[in-house]
Formats: sequence, C-alpha cells, structure tokens
Amino acid sequence: MKIGRNSPCWCLSGKKYKQCHEAFDNKLMSLYNRGFDVPDHDMIKVGVEIEGIKKSAKINMACLDAVAEVIDEGMTTQDIDDIVSSTTKKMGGICAPLNYDGFPKSVCTSVNDQVCHGIPSKDVVLKSGDIINVDCTTIFEGYYADSSRMFLIGDVDEDKKKLVEVTKECCDLGLKQVKPWEPIGNIGAVIKEHAHKNGYTVVREIGGHGVGIDFHEEPWVSYVTNMGEGMIMAPGMMFTIEPMINMGTHSIKTDPINNWEVSTIDGKPSAQWEYQVLVTEDGYEMISW
Ligand code: MF3
Ligand code: CO
Ligand code: CO
Repeated sequence: MKIGRNSPCWCLSGKKYKQCHEAFDNKLMSLYNRGFDVPDHDMIKVGVEIEGIKKSAKINMACLDAVAEVIDEGMTTQDIDDIVSSTTKKMGGICAPLNYDGFPKSVCTSVNDQVCHGIPSKDVVLKSGDIINVDCTTIFEGYYADSSRMFLIGDVDEDKKKLVEVTKECCDLGLKQVKPWEPIGNIGAVIKEHAHKNGYTVVREIGGHGVGIDFHEEPWVSYVTNMGEGMIMAPGMMFTIEPMINMGTHSIKTDPINNWEVSTIDGKPSAQWEYQVLVTEDGYEMISW
C-alpha cells in the first residue's frame, strides 16, 4: 500500500507523509527485506492515544500505591480486590479483568506458587512469609494500562526475597533493551540469562503483550528468546515486560476447576513484576509500573 508523499500521514498527525512517517516506513521496509518481522501500523500508538493511555496509567498506579500502603498479614486477597475496585471507580476508571473472558474479579492476586491470574477470595488470608503479585489492569476512556508489583508479607525468608528481587532486576534489564529498530527478543534474552544465572527458570507459555487500545494486542512478548530474535521494535509500539520467574521448574499448570489460576507444578514459588513501556525515538518511556 503506497501513500502519496504529499498526502496526510497515516498516523493522523495532520502532517504530510513525507514530513512524518515516510522515513519510518522506509526503515521498517528495509529491515523487513533483511528478514526481520516488523510491526504493522496498528501496533503504532499515536499522540492522542498515548495521552489517553497515560491517564489510564495514573489510575492504574494509584491502585497499586493504595494496595502498597495497607497490604499486610491478616488481609484477604478479596480486601485487595476491594481496594483496587474502589480506587479505580473513584478515579473514573474501569477494572479490565472483571468479566474479561469470564474472569470473576477486578484484579489478579497470585500468592507464592501461583504464577499469575490468581482470583481474589475471602478465603485467601495473607500470612507472614507470603509473597504476592498484584496485577492491575485499568480502562479509562477506552485506553488500557497494565502493571503489577510484588509485595512481601511480614517476615519473608531470604530465598523468596531473593526471587522477588531478581525478578525485578530481570524487568529492569529487559527495559534497557527497549530501543527502536532492535528486535524485541533482546528483552527476553537478557531476562532469561539473568534468571538462569541465579538458578531460576522462566515461564514459557505465558508472556507479555502489546497493550493500550486493547487489553492484549500484538506482539506477544516471550522471555525465553535469544539476542537478535523477534519483531523489530519501532517508536510508538507499546507493550508489557512481565516475566514470570520460578524458583524450581518452569513447568506450570492451570486450575482445572476455575480455568484461570496458574501455578508451578512443583509447588515452588514464582514471582512477577510488570511494566508497560512505550518505544520512543531514542529508547523507551515507562507508562505504568
Ligand atoms: N493483567 C494480566 C496481564 O498482565 C492479564 C490478566 S487477565 C485476567 O496480561 F482476566 F485475569 F485479568
Ligand atoms: Co497485568
Ligand atoms: Co500484561
């Protein structure tokens, strides 16, 4: 599909194509011709969209801040759901998980050996020594923000603390690989290396995703890739860095009753942090974390 050089750019900036994304498209085309997978235009966020997504991110991070302030032993994961739900509503947002593909609650709370998609419940009481991931996804004016954090409850043993810390380091190392015109697999390569160096494994079946206009968009982001692999990152792409790192085997299972909760098959702990990032002209911008 050819756009006239003097026609309005596809990004709706109002500028002429030749003064806007023509060079961008040429660059992607030459990478494509060298054998790389490249994003198409609907993976590229434009100005108004990014502004809207940032408003959603404000609510998203306010929810996790509110949880961080009060989370403690004796609380239930339903209490966390209540905090996220009320904070989101108060700020005019919607909790994306609720009724998403039948998910029954407003946030995911994954404790200890739970890898992700834990369902909040009155019956799950946090106790000293637990580690928990709280994964919050927000919709505001149709725009999505998605991030998650780990929390330590009471006295957590050194092994589990280290897992949580190394998983954060994995995300930070991955973040540094977010550079335009480089392949997205570089992120997973450094994450996998750091996890393995520390004796941990990386979940393979579940990964990150494009996000912003929808909950889960292309591309899918694996954290068990090698340097040089995967789709080229282009300015305007937005996706999550959310590796799940296990203390024992990488193998996971899904609860056969609720079909959501994912846990390690060996019962050993798993940790995850999630950042939402935008690829920029010279690197990245964190959108939610
Ligand atoms: N927030 C999760 C992610 O990072 C997805 C949760 S899906 C839900 O992609 F339905 F469980 F909420
Ligand atoms: Co998430
Ligand atoms: Co996500």
